[in-house]
Amino acid sequence: MPSLGVNIDHIATIRQARRTVEPDPVAAAVLAELGGADGITVHLREDRRHIQDRDVRILRETVRTHLNLEMAPTPEMVSIALSIKPDYVTLVPERREEITTEGGIDLLANFERFREIVAQLQSGGIPVSWFIDADLAQIEAAVKTQAQFIELHTGKYAEAQSETTRQQELEVLRLGCEQAIAAGLRVNLGHGLTYTNVYPVACLPGVEELNIGHTIISRAVFVGLERAVRDMKLAITGQL
Ligand code: PXP
Repeated sequence: MPSLGVNIDHIATIRQARRTVEPDPVAAAVLAELGGADGITVHLREDRRHIQDRDVRILRETVRTHLNLEMAPTPEMVSIALSIKPDYVTLVPERREEITTEGGIDLLANFERFREIVAQLQSGGIPVSWFIDADLAQIEAAVKTQAQFIELHTGKYAEAQSETTRQQELEVLRLGCEQAIAAGLRVNLGHGLTYTNVYPVACLPGVEELNIGHTIISRAVFVGLERAVRDMKLAITGQL
């Protein structure tokens, strides 16, 4: 079954609501790892609405599993990544007015610039993942950038309003995984996954990691983070 990357951005969201020092995402990462997280994911947004530069710097020192830095493909973020050196970077589209990442990046829109960004990050020894929709043209473009990974956007699957649509979206993801793996990419999945919808995507052949945030932090408010992560590990294996 795929491993679990726990996205702890929302811990920082609570802290930033008061511009104070608590709760600290660094403490959250420790508890998530105690609960069985296989990786820690943070999104350093250009507007710094939740995770701060200081968080990424300290997490680099304290995370015992692996640190996945989500960021926009911009010169500022590339330079931060090259100095902090996360275990890998996931490049995501970013719009200031969005509440959360709304769709995959369009690799065809700025292909040459994106290829250059992958080269810059890889020359610093950082593997790169593109957050894209399960679309063949995007998958082929990701291969051409020479990125090692993609993360397929699971939002449409997660938000499906009927069982028929959900099954259709699951098939889109299954095909995307197959095409990407056949083309030599490693595949992660994420966005909108919950305790109740995660198992079918966790069963898709070849998926390496699921990146999950909101539902885990929501449950953690009531049961604690360590247990919330443990529960998600069970959900991924169909035991919850
Ligand atoms: N993967 C990516 C690339 C994301 O941008 C996000 C949201 O920050 C997630 C996964 C996690 O999504 P969710 O919080 O809905 O689990």
